[in-house]
Amino acid sequence: MRNTLIAGNWKMNGSTSANAELVSGINAGAPATDSVELLVCPPFPYLAAVLADTAGSKVAVGAQNVSAHESGAFTGEVAPSMLADLGCEYVIVGHSERRTLYGETSVDVAAKFKAALGAGLRPILCIGETLEEREAGQTEAVVDEQLDAVIESVGIANFATAVIAYEPVWAIGTGMTATPEQAQDVHAHIRSRLAKHDAAIAESTQILYGGSMKGENAAGLLAKADIDGGLIGGASLQAADFLAIANAAAQG
Ligand code: 13P
Repeated sequence: MRNTLIAGNWKMNGSTSANAELVSGINAGAPATDSVELLVCPPFPYLAAVLADTAGSKVAVGAQNVSAHESGAFTGEVAPSMLADLGCEYVIVGHSERRTLYGETSVDVAAKFKAALGAGLRPILCIGETLEEREAGQTEAVVDEQLDAVIESVGIANFATAVIAYEPVWAIGTGMTATPEQAQDVHAHIRSRLAKHDAAIAESTQILYGGSMKGENAAGLLAKADIDGGLIGGASLQAADFLAIANAAAQG
């Protein structure tokens, strides 16, 4: 049985004081059940402070991006080993904002995924289609391409510690959540794609949904067989909003 992972992607938001308040609220209200795991992904400058504030709590910490390189002349980049050195457990790779705004290709994302694993981090691989692609009936083809690039690069065995996040681009930050049925269809497809390579990995891999998830719609999404949690943007920035999702998971 897969645990449910409720992960906050803070994106480029926060401040020292706002983060401290957010983390203390999450620590105080985190559901006790072991079957619900919590994760927050702050911007790079705040990782150390958030790691200190979550020490000993059930809240894990991850980064939002990482370099594919190990060290050297890459001004402005952050190496996977640096994130591991700080105590980060996870890193998001291939978020649609990175793909769209910063031109990351599936090949780039696969390299980051591989580098993260090399440092002992757990990559959260984001995949998902745009509205145009969905309307053109290309959803499965798009997620297949994004997933296959990574499977081909690292091999299915290396998905043992990875997480996948299905984030339809049209649902991110728009308030247009995928229906539980729409999300479940794609999640089931992703799991069957993994199963073609390795049935046990497919069964154990957590597949998160992301895109305007909030307290009001979380229970319906999380009730679906192949939806194992959420990657949450806007609703992860206030403790009460984030905890509403975590509590929906705990009651499910
Ligand atoms: P929203 O929850 O704000 O739609 O963002 C989702 C997302 O992009 C998480 O990575």
